[in-house]
Amino acid sequence: MIYKSVASIAPFLVRNIGSVRKMSSGRFKVFVTRSDMPKGGIDILKKECDVTVSSHPSVMPRDELLKSVAGTEAIFCSLTDKIDQELLNAAGPGLKVVGTISVGHDHIDVPECRKRGIKIGYTPDVLTDATAELTLALLLSTSRRLPEAQHEARTGGWKSWAPTWMTGPGLAGSTVGIVGFGRIGQAVARRVKAFNTNKILYFNRSERPEAQEAGAIKVSFDELLSQSDFIICCAALVPETKEIFNKAAFEKMKKTAIFINTSRGGTVDQDALIEALKNNTIRAAGLDVTTPEPLPLDNPLLNLPNCVVLPHIGSAAIETRDTMSELTAENILAGLKGSGMPAELK
Ligand code: GLV
Repeated sequence: MIYKSVASIAPFLVRNIGSVRKMSSGRFKVFVTRSDMPKGGIDILKKECDVTVSSHPSVMPRDELLKSVAGTEAIFCSLTDKIDQELLNAAGPGLKVVGTISVGHDHIDVPECRKRGIKIGYTPDVLTDATAELTLALLLSTSRRLPEAQHEARTGGWKSWAPTWMTGPGLAGSTVGIVGFGRIGQAVARRVKAFNTNKILYFNRSERPEAQEAGAIKVSFDELLSQSDFIICCAALVPETKEIFNKAAFEKMKKTAIFINTSRGGTVDQDALIEALKNNTIRAAGLDVTTPEPLPLDNPLLNLPNCVVLPHIGSAAIETRDTMSELTAENILAGLKGSGMPAELK
């Protein structure tokens, strides 16, 4: 017989023609890249999809990830998964949606997804407050030297109250410069204002009307660097912001400046930052993001007393992570059904 029976070609159709597959099972195929994703989103997906969850409560080994995504229609991923051409090829032509449980999307080859008609869902807004809170926590920890002070209290360095011991600059009366004035930058500005700062400056591609609420003033990057006592990076990592904080930038800052980064490690030339901290070109730095992540234990940043390093926990408020998971699931479902995604990366 020249033609195979319908039964024998059915698996092929199921894999390659979405509508035929839907008629046969009615359920979408979704792959989740790690087993420790907050449960809410996974439960939402399970109601309508065949969900396969990685067995790894951590980053999946790349070769395993590539095998696991084959034939899936949606991927529920995190910022630790590189969604590049190789992965999209491995997933195959049936892939319709990538949902990332993050607001940052520098781990996704966005133009390649667009070319292939793959929709991207992400989690803006829902993590703004948590990330702004963490930014303030890191700012205060770095300026008022909380990890150093706690270390002294725990290890006997605390001999008595002392008038000049463990001092650091206060926020009241200071000038704070925010680089990147999107949702998170604005939320940081509103919070910083409550500390009776003197001036809030911002640097952003475009003027932001929201700046008025915090009384923030748009300035050039160089002006922000030279005038600010505290410089906070909230800018997304894009080609224009890659290593924007380099040797020249640190040299333009005040010697007393404190640099905070809660966006992406890639915005900083890290070797230049290490030198600036060692040579006291600036006073201190607080980093929630580094290159690479995790930072190897022998990285100098971890041993500098004037540097506070956190393990990328900006959005790690319990409720926030639950909401991010649910939003990722809703994005994926809407993308699969062809209805409007609640948060599509356009
Ligand atoms: C965290 O860094 C995020 O992009 O959500």
